[in-house]
Amino acid sequence: MEINEIYQGDTIELVKQLDSSSIDLIVCDGPYGVTTNEWDKVSSIQDYNLNLIKNFSRVLKPGGALYLFGKDDCIDFIDYRPYLTLNRKIIWYQPSRLAQGRLNYTNNYDLICYFSKGKAKTFNLDDIRVPQLVELEHRLRCEKVPSVTNGQYGKTKFNEDGKNPGDVWGDIKQLTYKSKELISRELLNTIQKPAKLIERIVKANSNEGDLVLDPFSGVGTTFAVCKNLKRNFIGFELNPDYVVITKERIEKMS
Ligand SMILES: C[S@@+](CC[C@H](N)C(=O)[O-])C[C@H]1O[C@@H](n2cnc3c(N)ncnc32)[C@H](O)[C@@H]1O
Repeated sequence: MEINEIYQGDTIELVKQLDSSSIDLIVCDGPYGVTTNEWDKVSSIQDYNLNLIKNFSRVLKPGGALYLFGKDDCIDFIDYRPYLTLNRKIIWYQPSRLAQGRLNYTNNYDLICYFSKGKAKTFNLDDIRVPQLVELEHRLRCEKVPSVTNGQYGKTKFNEDGKNPGDVWGDIKQLTYKSKELISRELLNTIQKPAKLIERIVKANSNEGDLVLDPFSGVGTTFAVCKNLKRNFIGFELNPDYVVITKERIEKMS
């Protein structure tokens, strides 16, 4: 397959055409199994995701990473362990939702499951640091604790460049009707993701020149981020209109 190209078709078929151990990072924002979109109607999201995980495990390089998006139950009761290692479940917290549920607590987050094929070969923490929230006085007091001053936690000392973003990402907001990057109103919520969200993932688990796969590439957010960050890209997308939108989006960047 060509690099820096987007292919129109079904991921389940297209992924078979990729060489084994050829991909550094997969950003998988596919079906959640919750909306009324035709493409989102899968009988069991867990079985669907397990099948993806099996296929992605083949195409990832050793140490390559997969970020799988979904709802809170998207990998419940399936055994992904023969294929990939789950490093962290990241909560993408979205406090701005209307929260009008009446029978249960309203769901306020998406899950992003961070896997790797064996031990992750890349984790560029310094490229994804976020501002520290502690005050100077508190920080100095904490750092006088012997285990931090002398011991194995020395590396946890205050870092001027910021801290690890952790596994609850509340600092990146969903797109709204007012977002400048929103391509069209119909794409809000179920389709287009904020570039900042994808940027964090691409920066963390790939380097310049690496190959990133987005198997459900929508309107090409990952492609645009990869172009900015000098990563190579392959995308798959079922909807021919989105493929056209992606190509226009990328052309505009040149
Ligand atoms: C949540 S959207 C991804 C949006 C993307 N992250 C962005 O920011 O533009 C999921 C996309 O997967 C596509 N899709 C769903 N099932 C697919 C399949 N089997 N093969 C390829 N694409 C598929 C849908 O058409 C939709 O555009």
